[in-house]
Parts: sequence; structure tokens; C-alpha cells
Amino acid sequence: MRRVVQFAAVLSLAASAVMAGTVIDAVKVKSLKGLKCGTKLIKKNAKFYKVEVYPQTTLHMNDKKANEINKNAKGKVIEVAALTDGKQIAILMRWPDKSKDIFSGYKSDIYPDGYAVQFASDASDPQKLPYIGMGSDGRPVAIYLRKAYDIVYEPNGYGDVAHQVNPHNTNYFGKELKKFEKEVKKEGLKTYQRAFVSEGFRSMTEIKDNSINYRTDMHYVNKKGMWGGMVVRPLDDEYAKPVKGEYAIAVAVWDGKELQRDGLKRLSSWLAVRLPGASNKALEKVVTEKVTGDVANGKKQFEANCASCHNNRDFHNAPLYMAPDLSNIGGQATAAYIKESILNPNAVVVPGYNRNAHPNFSWYSVDKKGHRTSTMPPFNFLDEKTINDIVAYLQTQKAEVEK
Ligand code: HEC
Repeated sequence: MRRVVQFAAVLSLAASAVMAGTVIDAVKVKSLKGLKCGTKLIKKNAKFYKVEVYPQTTLHMNDKKANEINKNAKGKVIEVAALTDGKQIAILMRWPDKSKDIFSGYKSDIYPDGYAVQFASDASDPQKLPYIGMGSDGRPVAIYLRKAYDIVYEPNGYGDVAHQVNPHNTNYFGKELKKFEKEVKKEGLKTYQRAFVSEGFRSMTEIKDNSINYRTDMHYVNKKGMWGGMVVRPLDDEYAKPVKGEYAIAVAVWDGKELQRDGLKRLSSWLAVRLPGASNKALEKVVTEKVTGDVANGKKQFEANCASCHNNRDFHNAPLYMAPDLSNIGGQATAAYIKESILNPNAVVVPGYNRNAHPNFSWYSVDKKGHRTSTMPPFNFLDEKTINDIVAYLQTQKAEVEK
């Protein structure tokens, strides 16, 4: 009997090691100057951690086909690493994607692949991290976005890019072709990279002045069918700083082939990135917390209290768009966030209300000062065990992961 018990204990330990969220150790290197995807410095030093990303099913777009693909999309395992030279932090990502989708000026029906890294601007209270989907009122995030764009060069500035970027258009360029190609290389390479401060899906502000200092690079490895991407930014700036040497970050990837764009993407949960020698146990605990509870009872309680508004993998009877679909909440939200959502819906009011996609139900009301109040009632009358069981149940709500 004793042996059986021991065996069970070992098993559950192993399970929690796999299930837990991720703490990523940033590796110290001499310099991040000129860092690009695929360089030796990365191969030699980067320590990649497996991170699961799940389709964001909370929001719906005005594109039936895209919504349908998204609904059935699986999760992916991607890899994330961090490097630091004591002045800057580099977040490196690599992820499988069998099709390389690049946006070109003359094929505008293609949605590009891409990625983003999101930093919580203020992670000093890990119980109250920003809303994972691009921050929320009073809980801003800094987002660095990169999309796969082809070279677009407009020598005549008329916007008829189709005639200009195709080198076979010798009618247009004749003998100038060589010169043209040289100039495309030199001037035309405008990478599509953007930085935002965001307090929610509908309140993103692109930072266009020079107050933000960052760079990105992205590279496709044909042989492996994989993208690599990176973001390098200062260790500390007005947009995000480490707390006790750690950042809360989240990563997202877009697959153009699956018509993903804007809010349709695969997104991780909050991850902790730890600078060398640092320790922020409170943050690590929040990002790795796996609630143990009575999942079967949680499901029953969910059906009784929540399923009239929320659909998820088990329940589909709520009117469409009545409330966020929770089918992937377990892959994206921390236990602390789910608990807060139940006890105090107004703490984070999901800002993704799309009038066109959700014509009949408002997720919140807005007062004269622009303050949002959730239409979800607080469930603070439920006892602690019931809430715990619901959280444990919701942590199981996530798509199967692609093998
Ligand atoms: C009357 C309808 C209604 C009921 C009942 C309801 N909710 Fe909600 N819920 C909403 C709406 C609307 C939102 C979006 C606005 C917001 O964030 O508060 C929401 C948001 C949430 C979120 C955040 C979703 C996200 O994408 O981040 C969670 C988690 C949640 N609810 C869980 C629950 C649980 C668990 C229950 C049952 C104990 C429940 N809800 C009961 C309407 C409801």
C-alpha cells in the first residue's frame, strides 16, 4: 500500500511540473548589439522554454470563415528564451508554422504571419496583472508587434505598387532594373514593426515618437517549417520595468494561413522572465499556479451559475456573444485572474466588445466619465470551495495542443 501511495505522489509531482506555467531565466551575454535571428550568439547561449499558446476565442470577428477556423484551432507549443547584456533584454521566440505567409504589396489577399511580445507595464501586484488580451483599464501593457511583410518600394510614389515591385515588369524599368533592385534592397526594406501602449483591445495607442527604443527581427527556416522572432528593448523604460528583477510577459503568434489577424491569434498565459540572480516569488507563484480542486463539482457549479451566459467546451447553450467564450480560458488566464473575474467582474472588464459581431448583448455599460461596469454580477456569495472548484475546472478549458 505504501508503495502505491508513493508512486501516486511521484506521479502528481510530475504532472504539476508539466502543467505549471513558465518561469524563463534570462541568460547573461556580453552584448546584444546587432542581434539577429539565427545568429551564433543565440545558438550558443539561449535557453529555450516550451510555452503553450492557445487560440483566442473570446472575441469574434466579422469573418465567418475565420471564426470557424479559429473555433476548431488547436493550441501550439512554441519556444521562448530571454537574453540580457545588463542594458537590454531580448525575448526570442520560435514556433512551427508549415506555411510561410508574407504580405506583399501586390497580393493583398494574404494575411501575414507575425508575432508579438507583451510586457505588463506594472507587475508589482501579480494578483492584478493586466488583462491578458492587450491590457485593460488602469492596467496597461507595452506591446511589440512584428508582421511578415515583403519589401514594398514605391519609386514613383503613386501607390501602384503592383507595377513597381515586380522585377519582371521590364516595361516599367527596362535597363533601370539593376539599379531598381539595388535601391529596393537599400531603401525599400521597411519592416512592419509597431509598438503600442494598450489598455485594452479598443484603446491601443501606437508609439510613434522616439520615446520607445526597440527592434525586432523575424526569420523563416524553410527546412524546419519554423519561424523565429525576437524583440530587443531596454531593461527598464517608461513603458515597462522589471519588479524584483522579473517581468511579466505574454507572447502571441498569428498564422496567416488560418486567416488570423488582429484579435484572432494564439496567445500564451502570463510568463515570468527572470533576470540573472533575481527572485520574485510572488510573481512566479501567480504565473505557475495550478489550482487543485474538485473539477467535476466545478463543472456542475459552472453549469448552474455561469453557463447561462458563457459558452465553453462543455456548454453551448448561452446565446452567442452573450459573454466571452471561455473555451481557452485555461490556457491564457492565471488562476488569480479567473478568481478575480468571479468575485469582482468590474476589476477587469473585458474590453473586446465588438458592436458588429455582438449586436444584441453589451458586455458592459459606460457611465458619463467613460467608466465601464460589467454586466456580469459578482459571485462573491459562493463559498470558497465552490469558487476554487470552478477555477480548477476552468483551468482545464483549453484546446488540444497540436502534435
Ligand atoms: C449574466 C451573464 C453572466 C453570468 C451569469 C456570468 N458571467 Fe462571466 N462574464 C459576463 C460578461 C458579460 C463578461 C465580460 C465583461 C467582463 O469582463 O466582466 C464576463 C467575463 C467573465 C470572465 C473574463 C473572461 C475573459 O475572457 O477574460 C470570466 C473568467 C468569467 N466571466 C467567469 C464567469 C464565471 C466562472 C461565472 C459563474 C460563476 C460567470 N462568469 C457568470 C457575463 C456573465
